[in-house]
Amino acid sequence: MRVLGIETSCDETGVAVVENGTRMLSNVVASSMDIHAKYGGVVPEIAARMQLEAIVPAIEESLTQATLDWSDIDAIAVTNGAGLGSSLLVGVMTARTLAIVKSKPLMACNHVLGHIYASFINTTSLDGYIMPKQTPEFPLLAVIVSGGHSQLVLFSDHLKYRILGRTQDDAIGEAFDKVAKLLGLPYPGGPSVSNLAAKGDPNRYKLPIAKVGKYDFSFSGLKTAVLRLSQATAGVGYDFPSFKLSERLLEAQKADIAASFVSTAVNTVMEKVNAAVKQYNPKSVVLAGGVAANAQLRLVMEQQLPCPLIVPDIKLCTDNGAMIAALGGWQLTNNYPLADPYSLDISPNLSM
Ligand code: KG4
Ligand code: ZN
Repeated sequence: MRVLGIETSCDETGVAVVENGTRMLSNVVASSMDIHAKYGGVVPEIAARMQLEAIVPAIEESLTQATLDWSDIDAIAVTNGAGLGSSLLVGVMTARTLAIVKSKPLMACNHVLGHIYASFINTTSLDGYIMPKQTPEFPLLAVIVSGGHSQLVLFSDHLKYRILGRTQDDAIGEAFDKVAKLLGLPYPGGPSVSNLAAKGDPNRYKLPIAKVGKYDFSFSGLKTAVLRLSQATAGVGYDFPSFKLSERLLEAQKADIAASFVSTAVNTVMEKVNAAVKQYNPKSVVLAGGVAANAQLRLVMEQQLPCPLIVPDIKLCTDNGAMIAALGGWQLTNNYPLADPYSLDISPNLSM
């Protein structure tokens, strides 16, 4: 069973074909990141306009890459939430049209759930991907760390889950992006903070781990603590504007601040994950979302977890169509209701 997945919830246009929810046959991601970088963040209007231009070529390229034509595709899966309304509309309207014109069943997919299902992709006909050696087993603990979400989810079986905890304010990826801005690093912040952190001393500064509910997160206090630390290190007052701070800091100071931030963010996640593993004893842990691309988080998790850790290839951690094609496949085999191609709506605030 081959599913074509479409993902346009933020600035990427992702289209991929995945067979039986596990084998990736193509994966095309068109990003408008370079343009957003000039503005220091995603501009929704620009993202949607670029997606409108990119979506049809991405679908064609995805089929060509998989050496398939429409007769080989059994269903279409599309992200209908959560995400930017204008961006979601591009993917959903395209998927609806194709489902009608090509007479294919349509699956509506939750973006965050899609990030988790990227871990079920374990083989590919494509070069350049490192596939997980193990398949996730239930009960499964999913650790979602993305630009929009930070949450712990416990799965008893496919698509059967309960949320253990989530962030009370900013998502972890947001904290990475804001710290990057503060340190004068380029957008997207996650990779640039991670790269700088690798050159710094993680024990140079002590930053706080927020005290919230047992499995909940909070990253806004950490972000403010990094601002205060940067102001103190630069020798300026708390009213000194954050956008001027980076020019007052030495490279070595920035590296130490980045390293201390990353290590605190990783410890924050690990504190909750370790507690959940102790209480629920999962057979595997899945790390999902854009921040799963962070090498330090992966390393610490691998070292500390008593059960197998499954992390998708870095290219499948950030937004892509393959995770949606995989989720759509599992939804189909688990008799999840089909979406109506004449009425499927976007759901920008959809939660898991
Ligand atoms: O999952 P994702 O692509 O989009 C959302 O659904 O939010 O995650 C994007 C987030 C951004 O905040 C980005 O800075 C972060 O993932 N990110 C990273 C890394 N690569 C991307 N954070 C830390 N380390 C990385 N290497
Ligand atoms: Zn995402």
